[in-house]
Amino acid sequence: MNGNSGEANGRAALAALDWLVAMGADEATGDTPIDRRRKQPVAPAGETPPATTPPRDEMPRPRIAAPSLASSLAPSQGAADARAAAAAATTLDELRAALENFEGCVLKQTATNLVFARGNPRAPVMLIGEAPGADEDREGAPFVGASGRLLDSILHWAGIDPDAVYIANIVFWRPPGNRSPTDAEIGACLPFVRRHIALVRPRLIVLLGRPAMNTVLSTNEAINRARGRWIDYADESLDAPIPAIPIFHPAYVLRNPEMKREIWMDFLALRERLDALGGKT
Ligand code: URA
Repeated sequence: MNGNSGEANGRAALAALDWLVAMGADEATGDTPIDRRRKQPVAPAGETPPATTPPRDEMPRPRIAAPSLASSLAPSQGAADARAAAAAATTLDELRAALENFEGCVLKQTATNLVFARGNPRAPVMLIGEAPGADEDREGAPFVGASGRLLDSILHWAGIDPDAVYIANIVFWRPPGNRSPTDAEIGACLPFVRRHIALVRPRLIVLLGRPAMNTVLSTNEAINRARGRWIDYADESLDAPIPAIPIFHPAYVLRNPEMKREIWMDFLALRERLDALGGKT
């Protein structure tokens, strides 16, 4: 092998590795690599195929990190810990620190960074999305990828000042491979989300997509029925409910450009409500 083809192979291997990591395959599950490109022996008809991997009990133990204390706790104890940690935070910095120390959400074990929030913490509008993707995981900030670019441009064209918004998610770590967060993962983060809202105390909330709407408003409604309607968000830590508007998630609009009209109308409704409040736009 000459030097050039060695370098090319190295670059191809790195590109393949980047792709695997981006798809969420960022953990080794066995100690012995398996070359699946090699031809596997085929058993003659009627015969048991020769074992190419040892029986399950003899397989090398997967190299998975030992479960943390919190992930081995009973769910109710994990939930109580999450509620206590979230309630103890009296500022956004303390809430972020509480999440940095929180081990009760398994997503943290595969994520690169905590994705807490971006924007102005004193903004009148708090936007809440679903879960960080690869770009957000890398940068540690929500909505910095393609969905974020669409969101920023709609805010711009609707005449809403970037300083008038604060952006977060219902889970604080990227689900591997961009899968949807599970109910358990959402449940583990929920006390922090409620505390997050209580500490920001926005005048208005925008819920981006069904999972954010269902989680924050504790409903099971479909997004296409609820979108564009103002619904009160109430919580015992708030002295008054906060009007919340569910809208389509920007990623959904990117996949379904015919929905741009709906998201645009919902942002105009937001702008109108913000103007009526005399809020900063
Ligand atoms: N989608 C989300 O719901 N949140 C992000 O932070 C990015 C994309």
